[in-house]
Amino acid sequence: MDIDTILELHDVTKIFHMGNMFSRLRITAVDHVSLSVGAGEIFGLAGESGCGKSTLARMILGFEEPTGGTITHRSKDGQPITGKKVWRTAGVQAVFQNPFETFNPLRQVERYFFETVHYFGLADNQDDALERIESVLEMVGMSYDAIAGRYPSEFSGGQLQRVSIARSLLSEPSLLIADEPVSMVDASIRMSIMNLFRDLVDNLGLGVVYITHDLATAHYVCDRIATMFRGNIVATGDVDKVLIDPKHPYVRLLRECIPEADPRKRWETKVQLSESDAEEYLRIGCKFAGRCPQVMEICRHETPQDIDVDGELVKCHLFRTDS
Ligand SMILES: Nc1ncnc2c1ncn2[C@@H]1O[C@H](COP(=O)(O)OP(=O)(O)OP(=O)(O)O)[C@@H](O)[C@H]1O
Ligand SMILES: [Mg+2]
Repeated sequence: MDIDTILELHDVTKIFHMGNMFSRLRITAVDHVSLSVGAGEIFGLAGESGCGKSTLARMILGFEEPTGGTITHRSKDGQPITGKKVWRTAGVQAVFQNPFETFNPLRQVERYFFETVHYFGLADNQDDALERIESVLEMVGMSYDAIAGRYPSEFSGGQLQRVSIARSLLSEPSLLIADEPVSMVDASIRMSIMNLFRDLVDNLGLGVVYITHDLATAHYVCDRIATMFRGNIVATGDVDKVLIDPKHPYVRLLRECIPEADPRKRWETKVQLSESDAEEYLRIGCKFAGRCPQVMEICRHETPQDIDVDGELVKCHLFRTDS
């Protein structure tokens, strides 16, 4: 792991057991995922609903144990962060989709700030605590006066998401996990929240894992991106390579679903109807074979490996060179 890598996943797998005693189902929600995130980059994790993004995020945060594989965190000075409850360490923090669920509606939001300062032992006295709280609120374009004595319902979604981001910065984390951080926010201010992530990454050298099913915002804000399909990462690389010139057939289909400015084009949805989740998860060979327009015989029985195609990792038999 090189010095600037702050998060490394190696062969991480999560299997869920579902069903009853008559129909046992094993779902490999995350299937041998390897990736690394560096300081100062926004790493996107994209893919349709149910592909395993949040499961992966929960394992990175230590909320959930992987069934297999290893997850290694490093603080900014290169020290490994270990322990099951990684989220209880200062170095990794989460920003969730809905800020109104992040904060209890009956509590003043400033209490979360003082509690976090206390929890991590970040200040010796009230004045130090206030100074620290003021400084993170400034980083997100707010101030202590703007939050003092106020309840979550007194903020707009965008403001409250900024407050939530400020709280996550209190402990000077090296990594933020942001799961759909703008999807509940008014479209008109989504851009400003994404720009805020970019500023924080550039100014503080943070690493961010940015989870979304929206490729347009992913392309706007991410440096690199991994696209997931049914627990597998099928394409990883620089965001321009993966999204502007997609190679994996799944990413190509996803891209064609991005709404077009031309309203006639907007309705030409090309992704075919999904099979049931479970059926696709259980598929042998390439999990996308049932929907792939370029499916070949080999795809139905052999799992594709990651292949380096012009600097992008692509999990697809189309790019095999040995056949
Ligand atoms: N605790 C659980 N027990 C059983 N199955 C689960 C559990 N959590 C997730 N799953 C299953 O694992 C798969 C991946 O779910 P996950 O929530 O990670 O997807 P996601 O990509 O975050 O989706 P979305 O975009 O809708 O948030 C789904 O099929 C889901 O039903
Ligand atoms: Mg999710």
